[in-house]
Amino acid sequence: MSGPASDRLTDLAARYWLPVYRPRDLVLERGQGSRLWDSQGRDYVDFAAGIAVCSLGHCDPDLTAALVEQAGRLWHTSNAFYSEPPLRLAEELVTASRFASRVFLCNSGAEANEAAIKLVRKWAAAQGRGPQQRVVVTFRGSFHGRTLATVTATAQPKYQAGYEPLPAGFRYVDFNDLTGLEVAMAAGDVAAVMLEPVQGEGGVTPAAPGFLRGVRELCDRHGALLVLDEIQCGMGRAGTLFAHWQDDVVPDIVTLAKALGGGFPVGAMLAGSKVADIMQFGAHGSTFGGNPLAAAVARVALRKLSSQAVQANVGRQSQALREGLAAIDRELQVFSEIRGRGLMLGAQLREAYAGRAGEILDACAARGLLALQAGPDVLRFVPALTLPDADLADGLQRLREALRAFVG
Ligand SMILES: Cc1ncc(COP(=O)(O)O)c(C=O)c1O
Repeated sequence: MSGPASDRLTDLAARYWLPVYRPRDLVLERGQGSRLWDSQGRDYVDFAAGIAVCSLGHCDPDLTAALVEQAGRLWHTSNAFYSEPPLRLAEELVTASRFASRVFLCNSGAEANEAAIKLVRKWAAAQGRGPQQRVVVTFRGSFHGRTLATVTATAQPKYQAGYEPLPAGFRYVDFNDLTGLEVAMAAGDVAAVMLEPVQGEGGVTPAAPGFLRGVRELCDRHGALLVLDEIQCGMGRAGTLFAHWQDDVVPDIVTLAKALGGGFPVGAMLAGSKVADIMQFGAHGSTFGGNPLAAAVARVALRKLSSQAVQANVGRQSQALREGLAAIDRELQVFSEIRGRGLMLGAQLREAYAGRAGEILDACAARGLLALQAGPDVLRFVPALTLPDADLADGLQRLREALRAFVG
């Protein structure tokens, strides 16, 4: 990209940021719905939604109104005092979840999962199980966050390298492998199995039909909790408010973040009756958790994402996006598989293009489409759940042009 103003800005990143990110070379200035504009005035169709966060699009008027209204009333109280928004949000999450009894509010996905892991251990400890008997099983290809415990739960070595010693008490199994899970639980030392109903960062891989039911049965047989990480696939993205509703299981713990705040940082751990009273005064906490600003926005996001209108749009646009990707593949032979649920879709690159997802995304950005990858071999599409027909069509056309140029 050119232009002195944006050059100066990106220079600041190179000079001052810890270089842990490699953003695409553009500076976004403004967003509305599923469109974004950069500092050069160029427009983009957004199939990334801030990594599955802005599920109501950018600057949703109801979210903005809730934020502005709360900003003029009360920003922060800490958890030493009550305020209305987090009290109401907790009640609304419990009702919406159909299983939870209590909620812990925090600020991010990693924090929600960290709380879940701590709750699992506390629950096991309360049953007299020693530290060796509190293993958490997770699945290869998972992503649960970047804190030390959650990066250890994340069964992908690339995220863990160099951070050893990692916390003890985690065990990994192949995703969708019930036999492997049975073996991993045979010793009777497993306190919980934790998984994403649709793996996101690891390649957009849904749980196979019946897999979650099988996991639930094994958990019941071995006295373990079922923890579902719905941070990416939840809040309507998979086509139902909670992704696991499609799998016909009742979990013990569910974690949420990302779309829960529609772009405002917030996370939540939902605890079912078996574990809801395990953590008592002083057992856990967060200065910002349940912040009134975040909670006020999340209440509106939850209400809107639960609506029939949004869910109907997910179903319709999911099918349209799948069909569009299939049509592009028929023309250009780039994808070996299109998978996912709802508006969380992944396109696996054919062998000939393996490892080149990043280059394709550069080509997309150059033609005005923002999308994501899930590893080097998968293009990931997680647009707003309110994606309008015109933006979907425009986005697919830009993807087609980018891929035409890419395959030459
Ligand atoms: C499934 C899942 N869990 C946890 C996280 C971590 O969330 P955060 O980045 O808010 O800490 C992510 C983030 O991508 C995620 O996709």
